[in-house]
Amino acid sequence: MLAVENLSVSLPMEGGRVPVLADVSFALARGESVGLVGESGSGKSMTALAIMGLLPPGAATSGRVLFDGRDLLAAAEPELCAIRGRRIGMVFQEPMTALNPLMSIGAQVTEPLRLHLRLGRAEAEARARRLLARVGLAQIDPHRHPHQLSGGQRQRVVIAIALACGPELLIADEPTTALDVTMQAQVLDLLGELAAEQGLALLLITHDLGVVSATAARVMVMYAGRVVEAGGTGAVFAAMAHPYTRALFAASPHEAGGRPAPIPGQVPDPQHRPPGCAFAPRCPRAQRDCVATVPVLSPLPFKGRGLGEGSACGASAASPAPSPPPSPASGRGSHVAACFHPHPAP
Ligand SMILES: Nc1ncnc2c1ncn2[C@@H]1O[C@H](COP(=O)(O)OP(=O)(O)OP(=O)(O)O)[C@@H](O)[C@H]1O
Ligand code: SF4
Ligand SMILES: [Mg+2]
Repeated sequence: MLAVENLSVSLPMEGGRVPVLADVSFALARGESVGLVGESGSGKSMTALAIMGLLPPGAATSGRVLFDGRDLLAAAEPELCAIRGRRIGMVFQEPMTALNPLMSIGAQVTEPLRLHLRLGRAEAEARARRLLARVGLAQIDPHRHPHQLSGGQRQRVVIAIALACGPELLIADEPTTALDVTMQAQVLDLLGELAAEQGLALLLITHDLGVVSATAARVMVMYAGRVVEAGGTGAVFAAMAHPYTRALFAASPHEAGGRPAPIPGQVPDPQHRPPGCAFAPRCPRAQRDCVATVPVLSPLPFKGRGLGEGSACGASAASPAPSPPPSPASGRGSHVAACFHPHPAP
């Protein structure tokens, strides 16, 4: 249903045009759930905005975003308007800014039903009430305004709006970040249930690996605008190959078990990305070849390459990749990583 192919995005910044996304590829079928994880600034929201055609002014793109065979990057605004909210629902990162503070929540859920589905007032209001009930807000007066709700309730309203027109794809950008642990679990369960009920594809964006392991069948790890590891959630968690994935895991309070270990340093600013592997300045496995070339995604395990002995994998600068750079889009579910010295499988 969705195939993102070699998506690259650059933005105009002081001093010229700067790439913020590079070669992002993945596919999502009906009923599938994929988690997109990475630290702040890794490019998760930018990926979502590119799919929705909502990039900042002046953004330049290359690659393709195929939705049902149609390239959304090439689509005109009226076509995108008809798809957004109707066929692709989006839960934006900040629920308070996603809601109109001056409109009642009932009116905000009703609006897309009238606009996209052309329902009459009574029918739209009845459906809005059913939607609010479905997200656990049956007891809430639809005449209330967003400031009269708790953070968790507001997030549920945002989900109800995103699901109002029965979209085929739901993009949820940090849907639980603003919520307490109990509410997080409830919202995640709700998203999982709705995805299963309605057969919708779910792209779940989060910085939290625990959220992904609980919700998504596949995971993509992003760093500095690139996907650095991807595969089935079970396979990736069982054998994290990319040092960044491991560092992210160790930094996650849910997953680390003991005390989370913060990753030293910071995600490089797009204007100051280091040459070669962008993770090199923070990577405990970095070697000299890591700064020479950008590693490409390659399938795991890298057989017969002396893994675990510090030798270069098949994608090293000295020995080119044995096969063309695969994308998660081409090998759905296959475990891939972009690293010259990945961790060996346990
Ligand atoms: N409007 C913009 N103009 C210039 N740069 C931007 C803009 N929006 C985002 N960026 C930059 O693009 C990069 C990717 O940002 P993005 O918002 O996708 O990160 P993210 O992974 O969603 O992070 P977070 O977890 O904080 O939401 C960052 O370096 C960010 O500073
Ligand atoms: S390519 Fe090198 S620096 Fe980058 S993650 Fe792999 S080992 Fe670390
Ligand atoms: Mg974001």
